Amino acid sequence: MKKNTIRKNLLKIGLGVLGPLLFTGHATNAQTPTLTLDFAKPGANVSPMLYGLMTEEINHSYDGGLYPELIRNRIFKDNKTSPEGWSLVQEDSASKASIKLMAATTENIPFDERRHAINGALTTCLRLMVEKPGGKLGIANEGYWGIPVNPSTTYKASFYMKGSGSAPPRQRQGQQPLPPAPVIEDNTAGPITVSIESKDGKTVYASGTIEHTKSIFWKKYELTLTTGADVKPSADARFVITVNRTGLYYFNLVSLFPPTYNNRPNGNRPDLIKLMAEMKPKFLRFPGGNYLEGPLITDAFPWKTTLGPLENRPGHNGSWGYRASDGMGLLEFLLWCEDIGAEPVLAVYAGYSLNGDHIDAGPLLQHYVNDALDEIEYVTGDVKTYWGAKRAADGHPAPFKLTYVEIGNEDWFDRTNSYDGRFKQFRTAIEAKYPSLHCISTIADAQYPDLRVTGSNKPEVLDEHYYRNSWAMWENASQYDKYDRNGPKIFVGEWATREGAPTTNLNAALGDAAWMTGMERNSDLVIMSCYAPLFVNVNKATATAPKAWQWDSDLIGYDALTSYGSPSYYVQKIFSHYLGNKIVPVTAENIPVQNRPLTKKDSAEGIKSKVVPTIFYSVTKNDSTGNIYLKIVNTKAKKQTIKIVLEGVSNVSPEATNIVITGSKPEDTNTITDPEKIMPVTTKEKIKGKRFNKSLPPYSVTVIQLQTN
Ligand code: AHR
Repeated sequence: MKKNTIRKNLLKIGLGVLGPLLFTGHATNAQTPTLTLDFAKPGANVSPMLYGLMTEEINHSYDGGLYPELIRNRIFKDNKTSPEGWSLVQEDSASKASIKLMAATTENIPFDERRHAINGALTTCLRLMVEKPGGKLGIANEGYWGIPVNPSTTYKASFYMKGSGSAPPRQRQGQQPLPPAPVIEDNTAGPITVSIESKDGKTVYASGTIEHTKSIFWKKYELTLTTGADVKPSADARFVITVNRTGLYYFNLVSLFPPTYNNRPNGNRPDLIKLMAEMKPKFLRFPGGNYLEGPLITDAFPWKTTLGPLENRPGHNGSWGYRASDGMGLLEFLLWCEDIGAEPVLAVYAGYSLNGDHIDAGPLLQHYVNDALDEIEYVTGDVKTYWGAKRAADGHPAPFKLTYVEIGNEDWFDRTNSYDGRFKQFRTAIEAKYPSLHCISTIADAQYPDLRVTGSNKPEVLDEHYYRNSWAMWENASQYDKYDRNGPKIFVGEWATREGAPTTNLNAALGDAAWMTGMERNSDLVIMSCYAPLFVNVNKATATAPKAWQWDSDLIGYDALTSYGSPSYYVQKIFSHYLGNKIVPVTAENIPVQNRPLTKKDSAEGIKSKVVPTIFYSVTKNDSTGNIYLKIVNTKAKKQTIKIVLEGVSNVSPEATNIVITGSKPEDTNTITDPEKIMPVTTKEKIKGKRFNKSLPPYSVTVIQLQTN
């Protein structure tokens, strides 16, 4: 059999003309599949930013996820008609008390109850009215599917509170007469008990007291709550504030923080940072995704109101059916990058939102361009600049490194063709002020040739998104082999094999791994890639809270207490860990194939059969250490043996390290209760020189690490 270059082979695969020259035929392979690694040919560089992460507020990624605030609806704006997440605690039926959401809308502020705003951001609050005390009486928060408790742990609690006011509000001329204020004894001063307890209130895990000052003005109260060493970890807890006397008690910005990563105030959840850091991501794309754009133009990520003290953050409408607290604000995203050693890839709002509204290029768009320039200055400006000084005042004088700015998200949905002009206006302004920055276009030429940016210089980088099943991943794993090397670079800014819920299964991981071999082999072109979505809170609907996630097949799952990586997570982790800086050219022979079931579209297009490879591969080398990383994916249910031939090297170490991810069936997966079913296993193996056979377990991803000189 004549050897073809890998590019030529893969071009054929990409074009769907798999012939006998390449493969031995369907399933029955008479000849041994062989990979010949050619170290004599100079390989292209592996992109130093190939593997990163993408994030947005979806599936309770931040509120109820990485952002560890335990109080759900802390400023009472999540729902305009009820204090979602909150309930009245009333043990003694002879007592008389009620709670009321105040000022959620202008219509529901009774005239006598105005003047409850703390500032322009904190305008809604919760009132507890106690007319007759008795037993445990107060307010409880259920957290994000439970408040987690752990032994010997200190939680920081804080809240704003005031007692009933006595001065009646001023009545303006022509207004209705004042409705009568609740007549109860104003008796709000005195001790207030704050605790974390079991949902049934029977077990108190941690408790403390504050002395409430009698005042009609808001005051912030802070205390710490520490659990005992004998507390068993549980997510079945609630946060409670109780009183023992009559009065009108008003609450706002109620917060409970567990320990954070590196103990940074308003910092991140440590277990999730650890999982991400172990992936060694080179960048973090934020803040979206759809979350960047918002359903309406007015819902776009409002970075300016996500800065500074929590008291100044009103939150905003998210894109996935729930409100965002904006505790995870622009600076927190940047600090998150620092936590995991990644560079920010900043997506700026480009004047198009999910419901289809857009702002045309020209004077109306300039406000948004200026906003993006301000945002870039906040990220990168020195302390002498206006926004750099703000960042310093927020606690981070050092500028952040920034190389790529993405203009919008998935602007191929904007069928008005306005992106061409919008992209140009943003890019011109950004490059004029920041010549070293590279602007990413969100229209992928290959997917949307009719929509591509043409009116300005060709974009330097295009963001492509792929959500596919494993068959489609296997079929398209070689698509980048045929891309024009003189065209824009590719950022695969969102991609995933969507099988398994809420997190992916082994079959999805096999789809991912095959796809990643294609990106890795072509990482001279594919300069960055990131899976999406990254996070999922795996809680199902309860009597009081909806299902936590909106999107199936995610990378990292968690509840209030613990977290785990999906099989796809472990594939990402080993691909990122075992990566050289040079692509090693490979010639493949006799790669077995299998028939792909035809889709409706295939049949409609008259396609009679489709074959896809069952083995996928990529090889990189670290040219300073001599380490070689050979990645091979076996998608079949049976073991396959492959011959490895190393050409152009004089010596190979006699021992290889194998890192293998496998399972017994494609549906196998990890869950919150069985988090380590599918995990990489590392073994050592003796190899015989520069030609050896390698057995690939069924349904497996294998990294073989070799040492050459
Ligand atoms: O990852 C989920 C969503 O998929 C993203 O928000 C959006 O960009 C894409 O359509």
